Amino acid sequence: MQEARLTARDLVAVYFILDGEKRREAIASMPGVERISIDLLIEEAKKDYKYGIPAIALFPVISIEKKDEAGSEALNPEGIIPKALRALKKEIPQLCLISDVALDPFTSHGHDGLIGDNEEILNDATNEVLGKMALVLAQAGVDVVAPSDMMDGRIGHIRKVLDGKNFSHVSILSYAAKYASALYAPFRMVLSSGVKFGNKKTYQMDPANGREALLECALDEQEGADMLMVKPGLLYLDILRRVREQTQLPLAVFMVTGEYSMIMAAAQNGWLDEKKAFYEAHIAFKRAGADFILTYAARKVIAYLKEIESGLENF
Ligand code: PBG
Repeated sequence: MQEARLTARDLVAVYFILDGEKRREAIASMPGVERISIDLLIEEAKKDYKYGIPAIALFPVISIEKKDEAGSEALNPEGIIPKALRALKKEIPQLCLISDVALDPFTSHGHDGLIGDNEEILNDATNEVLGKMALVLAQAGVDVVAPSDMMDGRIGHIRKVLDGKNFSHVSILSYAAKYASALYAPFRMVLSSGVKFGNKKTYQMDPANGREALLECALDEQEGADMLMVKPGLLYLDILRRVREQTQLPLAVFMVTGEYSMIMAAAQNGWLDEKKAFYEAHIAFKRAGADFILTYAARKVIAYLKEIESGLENF
């Protein structure tokens, strides 16, 4: 009688990538998650594939010397992400590779867009750069680009750029309903990408708004998005359900860094059972209507699913 099901094939494992070799850095706010270099990423991705995870998503850790106002490192075809994509495609061609399109890991000010004279975000100028960034990723072998910047009109622009260069087979997963959330705090620590002035509320959504999410999703769908995403996850299950009812597109949810950190912090205090809490979160996403889940807890969930299947866990 169980309605929702969760398997490895529902999960997208998310990684933070470092330059160099054999490098591993722990992340204090995210126990069990590390920043890793490309050689180690390949080992992890092989395991993911073996466990049945169909896709991984990558975020770059960019050193401070490489960041500038315009985020120009985002367009470097020899940058960390293009290098990682080429290596992964060679080693594990069947694994679906997803990469963010946004400038914040690369900008000195931490914003997702280019900045004007009055510290305003330059929406349309940013779209031009995002189109170029998507093309660099496509040329490096990405399967799915995931614009996470929330500029208006970027989906249509990126689609046009990709199609114009014969990359019509590269899909767009739009971070369509992305809220200006306190739960991204660990992410910004991991990437040293905290904003140096202002906040992201002029482009990310107000947590008070629900209808606006439906509008954002409808616009991105019209512009040519192949898949939509709601982010963060647990505090926005109502949005996930409403978007599910509005669209026929595949729908993703992102269980973000802060959601991972909250469960781990409580678990480390002995206040709740980590495995059960992660399982419950992920099955809740499926119940609410998600087709797939971007998560830092993919391996933990899979290990627990195995326990359930084997009868070790009396569920
Ligand atoms: C960048 C981006 C962010 C996240 C994904 N892409 C942070 C932000 O918008 O500030 C957050 C992911 C997470 O916290 O897990 N645009």
